[in-house]
Amino acid sequence: MTSIRLSRIPYRRFKTMRQLIMVLLSISSFLLLMNLPQKPQTIIKRSKRNLTIWSNDFHISTIQDVKYQLQLFNVVLIDNSLSNHCGLTKTCAEKLKVLNKQNGISPTIKERQEFYEAYKNDPVMNQVDAFICFHPTAMCEVFMPFNRPLIIIASTRYEMGRFSREEWTKWNKNLRLIALNPRNIIAANNLYDAEYIRYFTGIKPIILPSLCDYTKASYSPKPGRSFLITTIFKQQFRSEFIFNLTHSIQRLNSTLTVDYLRSLYKDHYDYSDIAGHPGMIYVPYQVSLMSLFEQYRMNIPLFFPSIDLLTEWHYIYRVIDQRTWDDVNSQPSNASIVPGVLGVEIPDPNNEFDRKAIRYWLQFSDFYQWPHITYFNSTDDLVEKLMHADLNEISRSMKIYNVKLKERLHEQWEDILRRVDAN
Ligand SMILES: *[C@@H]1O[C@H](CO)[C@@H](O)[C@H](O)[C@H]1NC(C)=O
Ligand SMILES: *[C@@H]1O[C@H](CO)[C@@H](O)[C@H](O)[C@H]1NC(C)=O
Ligand SMILES: *[C@@H]1O[C@H](CO)[C@@H](O)[C@H](O)[C@H]1NC(C)=O
Ligand SMILES: *[C@@H]1O[C@H](CO)[C@@H](O)[C@H](O)[C@H]1NC(C)=O
Ligand SMILES: *[C@@H]1O[C@H](CO)[C@@H](O)[C@H](O)[C@H]1NC(C)=O
Repeated sequence: MTSIRLSRIPYRRFKTMRQLIMVLLSISSFLLLMNLPQKPQTIIKRSKRNLTIWSNDFHISTIQDVKYQLQLFNVVLIDNSLSNHCGLTKTCAEKLKVLNKQNGISPTIKERQEFYEAYKNDPVMNQVDAFICFHPTAMCEVFMPFNRPLIIIASTRYEMGRFSREEWTKWNKNLRLIALNPRNIIAANNLYDAEYIRYFTGIKPIILPSLCDYTKASYSPKPGRSFLITTIFKQQFRSEFIFNLTHSIQRLNSTLTVDYLRSLYKDHYDYSDIAGHPGMIYVPYQVSLMSLFEQYRMNIPLFFPSIDLLTEWHYIYRVIDQRTWDDVNSQPSNASIVPGVLGVEIPDPNNEFDRKAIRYWLQFSDFYQWPHITYFNSTDDLVEKLMHADLNEISRSMKIYNVKLKERLHEQWEDILRRVDAN
């Protein structure tokens, strides 16, 4: 099992938002080269017939993760991927009509109508029982006219592809319409995005964490391996952090070693490679990450800055540079362009200039929600914790948590498919 990391491409080179999004999709998570496993022995028969679910998504990992999980049910997933990395999973949309890599993220009203016209009598489409939309979640606007169940799962800020005030407002209206039908599912794979959707729509999405059970690797540290520092895109901050950390290690006379993941493994690592390191050190660039799901499921001990420290580092250095689309676009803002619906006591999630607002929203990040993560206040504190943490015990606790999570997730999917299949 392998994954590949692409190097970051400077934003400046990309003129349009659409191009920018393509780039982001390619860098914001690992690319997965995974083979779906053998057919499981026991297929859970929800009903006599197969359920067919359609997807034309811009992200290969999120859909692949769900495809893997749904193998346990009698579901056929039609995966017409529009991602630039679809070649890796052999899921490229070959004969998709109307939508393509260029127009798919923000199709015009006309293109949406053309899509419906092109498919309303299509024999394959006629077999489709439901649609699933991750990336962008707003893809489901295109599927609304088909009047079949929609499964929406946000894995990043849901206004992706609907950035103007008009488009975003329309998307909010449509999302509320979708939420009215109990056969539709509105979910997020993390609490941050669930709360973010609630802030703008009042809808309370269910949380369906990514499972990432495909790594087939588990924590087994090898002697002499270093702690890994995961990707930090802000270059100046990265240098300063690594400099400080190296000094802390010396000052505390520690023999432990650290390496920057991207220096050690460049563009490629096997999951079993990183499972052989004693732990991973994060200064996260995003609030929820597929690679973090993978590492957590591999039971690898994780070290994060405390919420106060990360708030400060974000306020000063903008380290979580993919938290808001404005920041992604290098135009951090102090307000959203559309209003929230929860009242003034809840701070604006797109305010990048207010410590209270940043801290309020950061609490919903995966790494402040999941148990058994170790937090540090300073690089000295980090070294102390790296030296003294009971890594095996932490890993064991993560493993127990992961087993329970998998069971719960299975039940959630059973429930979702039952809802979708209800007549
Ligand atoms: C259901 O799908 C499986 C593939 O996942 C296929 O082998 C089987 O023939 C299908 N059954 C029906 C009744 O279509
Ligand atoms: C590095 O250390 C200096 C001096 O103690 C401190 O002012 C600075 O905030 C630290 N920066 C990071 C990123 O740790
Ligand atoms: C580190 O080692 C030096 C020299 O052996 C010693 O003076 C110092 O007290 C040690 N520091 C710590 C934190 O143990
Ligand atoms: C955001 O900045 C604008 C212009 O600088 C200012 O008028 C406004 O009051 C600020 N809003 C908040 C919520 O801080
Ligand atoms: C941060 O440091 C303070 C003072 O040393 C300590 O009381 C607190 O428990 C630390 N917090 C974490 C998360 O380690």
